[in-house]
Amino acid sequence: MRKPIIAGNWKMNKTPAEATELIEALKPLVKDAQCDVVVCPPFVCLPAAVEAAKGSNIKVGAQNVHFEKSGAFTAEVSVDMLKALGVEYVIVGHSERRQYFGETDAVVNKRALAALEGGITPIICVGELKSERESGITHAIVELQTRLVLANMTECQVKKCVIAYEPVWAIGTGLTATKEDAQEVIAFIRSIVCDMYGSEVAEAIRIQYGGSMNPKNATELMGMPDIDGGLIGGASLKAPDFTAVVNY
Ligand code: 13P
Repeated sequence: MRKPIIAGNWKMNKTPAEATELIEALKPLVKDAQCDVVVCPPFVCLPAAVEAAKGSNIKVGAQNVHFEKSGAFTAEVSVDMLKALGVEYVIVGHSERRQYFGETDAVVNKRALAALEGGITPIICVGELKSERESGITHAIVELQTRLVLANMTECQVKKCVIAYEPVWAIGTGLTATKEDAQEVIAFIRSIVCDMYGSEVAEAIRIQYGGSMNPKNATELMGMPDIDGGLIGGASLKAPDFTAVVNY
């Protein structure tokens, strides 16, 4: 019922020419994918990425967006600017933005709302730190994040969101959550969405897993009932690896 969505978060990698090269390589390889396929290059690569992806089933996303329409917000990019380029998705609240740039759940919520109001699909990241998991407070952390980032939305808006559950200790470490642990937390997130917005919304929203997802573990993760996709970092930078995940 929920169409799976596999998105590549390229982080701070690739020049515009390299973005074009990677998307050109991906196009024939992912053309029969059964899931939505999204690539999220750095801002400066977005025009080249949209151009390269034209006429294919690859959609382009950004890695962040500001919540104001315009103004004195040095280095920020607005929803209208992304829309004008043909960008359809945007990652918000990635743990690297939270850890290194001080983004809070309240700011992430504003960014997600602005994206939705402008017609761009937000991929909203949540996930616990290693210390939080070890302290047994994973549910408490993830519940708080989920409630705050999804605040003040209409049911219709929540249905359009994608949530990415990315345990921070699994990002870029080669440590993947077991399929059981990922399923368990993602089902828990869905139960929070149900509590906030009802079962119809909870059944509709797509929730991805992210954190060292790769060709080796994609099939088993995607086989779990509540895991609706993946947000892929390192393995999205090489056409064969990302293709293998997309065609899990
Ligand atoms: P890795 O796949 O490199 O662990 O990164 C995951 C991630 O942060 C995707 O947003």
